[in-house]
Amino acid sequence: MDERVVSNEELNEDRKDEVTLRPITLDDYVGQGELKENLGIFMKAARMRMESLDHVLLYGPPGLGKTTMAFIIANEMGSNIKTTSGPAIEKSGDLAAVLSTLEPGDVLFIDEIHRIPRFIEEILYSAMEDFKLDIIVGSDASSRSITIDLPHFTLVGATTRAGDLTGPLRDRFGIVSRLNFYTEDELKDIVLRTSRVLESPIDDDAALELARRSRGTPRIANRIFKRVRDYALVMGKGHIDLDVTKLALDKLKVDDFGLDATDYNLLNAIIEKFNGGPVGIDALASSIGEESSTIEDVYEPYLLQNGFLKRTTRGRMVTEKAYEHLHKKHNDTLF
Ligand SMILES: Nc1ncnc2c1ncn2[C@@H]1O[C@H](COP(=O)(O)OP(=O)(O)OP(=O)(O)O)[C@@H](O)[C@H]1O
Ligand SMILES: [Mg+2]
Repeated sequence: MDERVVSNEELNEDRKDEVTLRPITLDDYVGQGELKENLGIFMKAARMRMESLDHVLLYGPPGLGKTTMAFIIANEMGSNIKTTSGPAIEKSGDLAAVLSTLEPGDVLFIDEIHRIPRFIEEILYSAMEDFKLDIIVGSDASSRSITIDLPHFTLVGATTRAGDLTGPLRDRFGIVSRLNFYTEDELKDIVLRTSRVLESPIDDDAALELARRSRGTPRIANRIFKRVRDYALVMGKGHIDLDVTKLALDKLKVDDFGLDATDYNLLNAIIEKFNGGPVGIDALASSIGEESSTIEDVYEPYLLQNGFLKRTTRGRMVTEKAYEHLHKKHNDTLF
């Protein structure tokens, strides 16, 4: 797959300023008001009781700030954070090894937690619930199970696919929160913050324009900010204004709604090949040569959220808004 400038997944170019751009306190974290308020209270209560925070599950599309929040939790709790990910845990020993390094109050961050193999998940159950680690030592006839006490720790799990978690795992998180797409105003605040951090001034109207085209996603806002900053530099302007912002985004082929060629391709396929839908996800996927899961995780969330696409029991359909935006006429016999 070509790299999309509006991809919500992490690209290499994002890593460069990651450390400086990531907010480190709850106050610094823009948006997600409800999550922030709840976490703020739970963390305060845990600190007052001198206990570790309950386990936290954060889910939602890529780039909305799950990893960022995990680090903020550790920071606010004054704890160390240890990180691993579902795909890195292949054998039960991998998980046991991480768990046995934990110290009291530590935050254990498991990214892509839905990808932990099912047979290993059970180890997590007793670790999360009773802070006990059951392991088998020895082999064959002489093998026996021993139980090790773990210190109280906080598991922070992140996933883009909450639906793929098993019920028992999900139930063991005391705090479960969905991250939502950001509003234009929130993204504008993020852009202005990034401008301050990177010391590249931007006009207010330009910041709003960037916010509008960032698909509700801070990671994209930061990425296109940096691209636009390059244009501004090359064009010899001291700061980022609306003109250079529009010019740069046009050159990057990101339209007024933040849609790019991949989105057009998907919407056009439904309109042209399936008469606007409804079309099943698998038929759609094969018609554009993509995996169904890529469409579900990466392509369609923003299109659904913004009313270009809708899901019905019979499949995906494009909306009136999509027809208008793409300047397409529909086949009237169907409407
Ligand atoms: N609330 C926020 N305020 C300011 N910046 C944010 C916020 N959330 C995210 N960011 C910025 O967006 C970037 C991407 O966020 P992050 O890596 O936390 O996303 P994620 O949800 O973990 O994504 P993935 O699902 O791909 O792991 C961060 O590096 C940070 O700079
Ligand atoms: Mg992450």
